[in-house]
Amino acid sequence: MRIDTHVNLKPYHTFGIDTHASQFTRIQHRAELNLVLQFYTQYQPLLILGGGSNVLFTKPFEGLIIKNELKGIRIKKRLKNETLVEAASGESWHGFVCWALKHHLYGLENLALIPGSVGASPMQNIGAYGREIKDVFETLEALNLKTGVIEHFNAADCKFGYRESIFKHECQGQYFILSVTFRLHHQPRVNTSYGAINAVLQSKGILNPSPQDVANAVIQIRSDKLPDPAKYGNAGSFFKNPEIDASLFLKLQQQFPDIVHYLQASGHYKLAAGWLIEQCGLKGYMHDGAAVHAAQALVLINASAATGKAVLELSKHVQQCVFERFGITLQTEVNLL
Ligand code: FAD
Ligand code: EPU
Repeated sequence: MRIDTHVNLKPYHTFGIDTHASQFTRIQHRAELNLVLQFYTQYQPLLILGGGSNVLFTKPFEGLIIKNELKGIRIKKRLKNETLVEAASGESWHGFVCWALKHHLYGLENLALIPGSVGASPMQNIGAYGREIKDVFETLEALNLKTGVIEHFNAADCKFGYRESIFKHECQGQYFILSVTFRLHHQPRVNTSYGAINAVLQSKGILNPSPQDVANAVIQIRSDKLPDPAKYGNAGSFFKNPEIDASLFLKLQQQFPDIVHYLQASGHYKLAAGWLIEQCGLKGYMHDGAAVHAAQALVLINASAATGKAVLELSKHVQQCVFERFGITLQTEVNLL
């Protein structure tokens, strides 16, 4: 593993911020894990980077970045109705979704086209269009960077929640996720309940969608709605959709009858942060090259050579406007570095 110094990070993250890391290396083989442990004692901070699609570099990274390129997908066990599949953490997430569809293994189709790596998928329990990875997650193995021991985590250990896991909290920065095992179904169980999936399928005259049809519909919706990082740097939703209790929701609904909301099983209400931001008149709002995306207000973009600092300032302005109008503090989804 060769360590390069003063490496420009622009190609390694989807926000396209022009900044650098003081040290940068790549891992391609598990045999190199002993070096990772050695580096952990030598260089701090140390960051494991996947596809860089959920990070914002707010300043130069004064430490070591290890770009994860561990590859491999294997069938671990065939059961009667399901197959356990293990994917190395450096595999592309969307590539893995395509692999599963090709092998007639189902459960991932609603999560098509989410950027990034398999290894980052448990970090925030990625989700879209009515599914989260916790629905098909079996186990993961991760190297404890402090002890050097490879540990196994089941779903309960991971403490998955909405865009949450133990790896974003008490275990933050302590583990290198090496592989993730998923429990995929032999029989399709298509879920077309969320958002525009049904509308897209109907427009194509598809009455009995296959999992591949669902994946294609999700790909179409995502491509229409979300900015392509190759054109405008971004990290998807910048904030989480806030969850509030029923009494606060009813008060807000009296004041804002059109408020977009989703009743949760807990009795709480999830609000659409994009709607809240749009109501503040911020769609298309620009600050020093950073902007609120004009087609999806929950996404902040690098419209024109923005710095990480400018994106951060914009995000704070958005939070302040939403707080002043609705009394709600938006929580950042993107990992700020
Ligand atoms: P990175 O950005 O490289 O890393 C994110 C964090 O995870 C960092 O803290 C990093 O240190 C840590 N990390 C990464 N790999 C490992 C590892 N192997 N071990 C330990 N720590 C690790 N997310 C959703 O949930 N749903 C969506 O619908 C969605 N849509 C998106 C659309 C766009 C256009 C973009 C740009 C992003 C979107 N995202 C979405 C966010 C992002 O794609 C996911 O969070 C994805 O899982 C990040 O993967 P990554 O490999 O790029 O992670
Ligand atoms: N809306 C607006 N204005 C906007 C944007 C959204 O009014 O500018 C309202 C609309 O009413 C719309 C509703 O918000 O119906 C929901 O919008 P959308 O379906 O685009 O989803 P979202 O809540 O903005 C979430 C996830 C996405 C995920 C989609 C689909 C979060 C933080 N974001 O976005 O995940 O792809 O649902 O499931 O939960 C990500 O995490 O990076 C991400 C892109």
